[in-house]
Parts: sequence; structure tokens; C-alpha cells
Amino acid sequence: MKISERLGSIPMSGIRKMFDLAGPNSINLGLGEPDLDPPREAVEGMNRAASEGLNKYGPTAGINELRNGVAEWFSRYAELTGDNIMITPSGSSALLEVSQAFIDPGDEVLVPSPGFVIYSPHTQLSGGRPLEYRLEEESFLPDVEDIKSLITKKTKMIIVNSPSNPTGGVLDEATRKAILDIAEDNNIMILSDEVYDAYVYEGKHHSFMDRLDRAVVINGFSKMMAVTGWRMGLICAGKDVMGDLIKMQYHICASPNMPAQYGILNALPVMEEYLENARKIFRARRDLISKRINEIEGMHIVPPKGSFYAFPSYDLDMRSEDLANTLAKSGLICTPGSSFGKYGEGHLRFSYAADEKKINAGMDILADTIGKLRRK
Ligand SMILES: Cc1ncc(COP(=O)(O)O)c(C=O)c1O
Repeated sequence: MKISERLGSIPMSGIRKMFDLAGPNSINLGLGEPDLDPPREAVEGMNRAASEGLNKYGPTAGINELRNGVAEWFSRYAELTGDNIMITPSGSSALLEVSQAFIDPGDEVLVPSPGFVIYSPHTQLSGGRPLEYRLEEESFLPDVEDIKSLITKKTKMIIVNSPSNPTGGVLDEATRKAILDIAEDNNIMILSDEVYDAYVYEGKHHSFMDRLDRAVVINGFSKMMAVTGWRMGLICAGKDVMGDLIKMQYHICASPNMPAQYGILNALPVMEEYLENARKIFRARRDLISKRINEIEGMHIVPPKGSFYAFPSYDLDMRSEDLANTLAKSGLICTPGSSFGKYGEGHLRFSYAADEKKINAGMDILADTIGKLRRK
């Protein structure tokens, strides 16, 4: 059987390829998932819902209690109601639903580079054409001039991701405003991926939730509650487009997982405290990994302000894919910068959602391997 040209044109994610190289004793700093336990209340709430028989289809947009609860949770960013929120089966599917709902064949979509691996494929799967805009070195802020230079009559959407995977960069207010101005002047919509909003260590998160006239925002519970396996996310959008997004979701899944929604609902009251603790843990790991990386001659990183990734540069004359392969053979799994787009080359991505012992063991391998390569 022949698969569609649309799907055939898309390569397998570079992140998944690295997992195939992992041996049983490898130190894996490739995984983008918190190693913490979810809040106990989440697991209890889900188990209770399943035991009490809430195992059938539910409303397509998610249960109202959770939509309202999530609107309340994000009231820190904007005045929202449950009608602005749809619960989705993961942040990934939220992104695909938004692409499918807004992109027409031939539309151009500006994606961050380096940026999360599914933005370009989702654009292509929706018939659009992705164009990579550059993030500046070190600050990893979107290069506003580069965005402007890429705009044509066909530009439909600018995707923004803050805090960023893979760079850890956090958008500042001036850049947020500059992107909103560009969008306004050229009648372009913004898709803002804010799945790491809870993980900002310096400054604060600047959400697009207060501009639902221009932006659709996605978020998810995977990173927020350490429940990557539950597949729970959300879309925050204006009421004018919500009906169409719900129609889209109906054709993807009919309705999101019922017991998991009750689990998340049950955990919302404890989330402030849970995240404060999680941030403290990740901040300490960020400091550790940044210090260890900067001690290696030929590697450099400015401590990232958010998410849980370190994206250092290196000065070896070697492609990041080859360097990541060499490291994998030495027992350290990370992700080559080139997996995240053309502006990711010359970098490696390490996830520090791993304990300090693993980070230290991984950094020992990195120091040793880079040292050997430099002496060659
Ligand atoms: C930037 C970004 N957006 C979205 C997602 C999707 O997360 P999930 O599908 O687990 O909600 C991820 C996962 O790694 C991510 O890094």
C-alpha cells in the first residue's frame, strides 16, 4: 500500500532516532519529560473517576468543571471563561488541531528555528509551507527582523514557543509586542505554544492569552503535572473560533479521556505548591548543568531562563548529529541541535529533567568525549 505523499515527505523525528541508539546503561538526557511524580491528588482523582464508572465518552470540548477550572488557573494571564478552553488529548494534538483548523493549502507558516520538532511537519500535514525564522544566539529571542523579512502575502501564521524547547529561552515583553505588531500589520495569526509556562526561573512568562483576537494558545498537563503518559492538553482561544476548533476535535477523538480529566481537576487546587517545589528542583539542576557545561573547554551556555533544556554551543568542527552519535556510543544520549531546524546546528540539547546524579554522570561523559575530540 502506498502512503500519502503528504506523510511520505516528512522525515522521522531526530529525537526518536537517538533513542534507538540508547543502551541499557546509557545516561539518557534526551527525554523531554519531568522525572517527578505527578501530584497524588491527580492520580487519586483519576482512579476514583474510573472506579465510579466515568469511563464513557464525554463532551467533545472536555468536562465543564475542568474547562472552568483551567480558565480560573490561567486568570493570572487574562480574563477567561470555560468557553475559552478546550481540553485536548495532548499538547501535540492541540497543535495539530490548530494547524488543521486554520491552514489552507499553500499558506505559509513561520516556525521558530531552533524549534520544537513537530511545528513544520504539522504545517506540511495541513498542506502549508513552513519557513524557519531565526532565534538569536544566547538570548534565543525571536529575531524580529528575520520574521519581517519572511512575510509574504501567503503568510498565515507565526508560531511562537516560550519558554522554548529546545533552547530554554523565554520571550520578553518587548519581543512579544513586536510580534503582535507584525501580526496586526499583516493580518497574521499567532499560535503560541506555552506548555512550559510553569517553568520560568528568571523574569516571568509573557502569555498571549490576553490577545485571543490575534492568537490561539496551546498548553498541556504533560509537563505541568508530570503526566506525559496521560495525554492531556488544552487549547485557549477566542469564542469566535472555539466552535470550529471543537468541530475539529470531534473528528480527531470525539472527546478527551474522561478519568484523566477528573484527575487533573482534582489536582488543580494543589498545583501552586506542587509547581513551586518542581521549579526549585529544576532551577538547581539548571544551575548544575550550566556550570558543568561551561567548565568544558569548547562548550558554552548562558543559563537558560525557562523550560528544562540546556542548549549549549560547541566549537568543534563537527556536525551535531555526528557529535550526538559519538556521545551515544560513549553512553550519553542527547539530541543534536540540527533536529530542531537549520539554526540549531552547532548545538546539542540536554534535558535536565533528570536527577543530579544522572546529570553529573552525563556531564562526565561529555567532558571526557569533548576533551578527546579536541585533542585529536
Ligand atoms: C514545545 C512543546 N510543545 C508541545 C509539546 C507536546 O507535549 P504533549 O503532547 O505531551 O502535551 C512538547 C513536548 O515535548 C513540547 O516540547
